[in-house]
Amino acid sequence: MAFNIRLMCQEDLPQVNEIDHEAFPTLWPPANYLRELKNGLAHYIVVCDDEIEYEPPEPPKETTQKGFFGLLARLNPLFNHRQPSGNGAPPTAADYTYGFTGLWLMAGEAHITNIAVREKYRRQGIGELLLISLIDLAIELGAKLVTLEVRASNTDAQRLYAKYGFIEVGLRRGYYTDNREDGVLMTIEDITSAPVQANLQRLKQAHARRWKTPAARLRGY
Ligand SMILES: CC(C)(COP(=O)(O)OP(=O)(O)OC[C@H]1O[C@@H](n2cnc3c(N)ncnc32)[C@H](O)[C@@H]1OP(=O)(O)O)[C@@H](O)C(=O)NCCC(=O)NCCS
Repeated sequence: MAFNIRLMCQEDLPQVNEIDHEAFPTLWPPANYLRELKNGLAHYIVVCDDEIEYEPPEPPKETTQKGFFGLLARLNPLFNHRQPSGNGAPPTAADYTYGFTGLWLMAGEAHITNIAVREKYRRQGIGELLLISLIDLAIELGAKLVTLEVRASNTDAQRLYAKYGFIEVGLRRGYYTDNREDGVLMTIEDITSAPVQANLQRLKQAHARRWKTPAARLRGY
């Protein structure tokens, strides 16, 4: 795999929506990444591979479902902004996207909105690569603190965050609207401080050694 890390652009949206749908199937309505790209507070990155060509999946056959789910399926295209533009043109980005992540920057705080990796490429260091790159980006943008909410049941993601020095600082009861699940609030305070920077440096080097990713590529955006 040849990782390429860059800022998300409109051409990435079909694949980003695909990954989002796979990772967060219960989220309704789904996240609107086209709106996020136009949001000045939001910054998104993708990890992709220009040695693999993306082949879009077959378009779904017209639904014949009846009742509530049939109605839902027919309404879906109205809310699901899967095309990069409103003209129905096919995506032009040919490189294959493994995953994406993003943040909102407000008053010196970087709030991680999302991180997701295609299911078949998980446990290969890509989530870490995304998180490392996002923290670097947060620092470049002048953030002093990085924060996020994660579902109380999502222990895989919590492990990833804990590995990178996020500390549990609170609980938001019933934060998630789909199932009223609690959100665990996790934060890295003072990301530019010497101890935090030293820890990040150590983790970056360990990641580069383990996954044979040249450290220079981590700053390829
Ligand atoms: C969370 C997610 C992005 C991790 O991506 P990934 O590419 O599989 O993660 P990595 O391979 O880089 O793993 C990094 C670390 O995360 C933790 N981790 C990730 N998946 C794990 C799992 N299934 N079990 C245990 N720990 C896990 C571990 O600490 C791991 O470090 P280690 O390899 O030294 O044990 C991915 O599982 C995903 O897309 N999940 C669905 C979306 C989601 O839940 N996003 C979080 C929203 S807050």
